Formats: sequence, structure tokens, C-alpha cells
Amino acid sequence: MTEKERHDLFMGTGIGKFVDKEFETYLLANGFFSAPASTKYHGNYEGGLFDHSFTVMNILVELSAKNNLKWQRAESPFIVGMFHDLCKIDQYRIDNSEPYTVGEATRYEHRTNTDFKGHGDKSILLLCQHMKLTEEEVMCIRYHMGAFTEKDEWSDYTNAVHRYANVLWTHHADMLASHVCGI
Ligand SMILES: [Fe+2]
Ligand SMILES: [Fe+2]
Repeated sequence: MTEKERHDLFMGTGIGKFVDKEFETYLLANGFFSAPASTKYHGNYEGGLFDHSFTVMNILVELSAKNNLKWQRAESPFIVGMFHDLCKIDQYRIDNSEPYTVGEATRYEHRTNTDFKGHGDKSILLLCQHMKLTEEEVMCIRYHMGAFTEKDEWSDYTNAVHRYANVLWTHHADMLASHVCGI
């Protein structure tokens, strides 16, 4: 898929109507539809971040329907799924440190000079500049990594799940996308 095809897909599905022109312009200008999702794990290719985000969104929307999950607003599973990893929008750059061999895939490396650090918390910092979030959405994005964090955050994660069960469903959707679907 090309960057344009990913953008068309984004605008054509449910999430398109929750994103205003300003945010859409930001996403395009900052490479949301072309960024990778990692340097060497899932989604380490051009467009990998969008493909992963789109998959998590679809899984979370489907889980919400099938399990009758209640959200503070109907668009939350779309927003949480699509933007939980917004932090990755400026996280990587193409690695040209060594010459490429014929047919070799694009290599990526970490950028260290990003304006913000962090993961779920950084996604919230970026996202809240473009849309007002519910507390539930903030908690779901902040704790979407589940217990794949420093040990001293485990009890915070448990508390977040107790307050909003959708935190757990968000982590589940993220795990299904990356470790079952491989996206
Ligand atoms: Fe993540
Ligand atoms: Fe993710």
C-alpha cells in the first residue's frame, strides 16, 4: 500500500469522521501514513505504524461490539486503537550509516532528538493537542502496554484496569495485533 492508499483508507473508515482538517493535516505532514512501527520488531517497514494502528483499531472495535463493552463515548475504541502509538510518529528515521545491498529492505534507527520522550504518555501529549480526550481514553492509551513496563508501574496498571476495564481490552487488542496477527 502507498502512503496515499493508507490515507484514503483512514479517511474512508469510521475514524475519518472524528478527525478534523487540522489534525488530518498534522498526520500527513508528520508521516503518520509512512512511518514504521519499530526498527526490528513488528511493523519495521514504511507504513508499518499505520498498519499496526489500523489493525488495533479494528480489533478493539470488534471486541467492543462482541463483548458489549461500554465506553464513555462511542468513538473511543476508534480513537484509542488508532492513536495509542502516536508516539512513534517521529521515533524512527532511515538508517543510511552503511551502504545498502541490492534488494535489502529499508533499515530504521531510533531518533534521539524528539521533542517528547516516553510511550503511552507521549502519545497522549501529542494527541491532546488535536482533540479533547476522555479520562478513559487517556488511561487506555497510557497503560496500553499492560505489564510490559518497569515493575514499579505494575500496580498503576492494575489500578487503571480496576477503574476502566477497557484498559485491559486495549492491551489485549494491541497484543492480538502484534503477536497473533503479526502486524
Ligand atoms: Fe505501544
Ligand atoms: Fe501498539
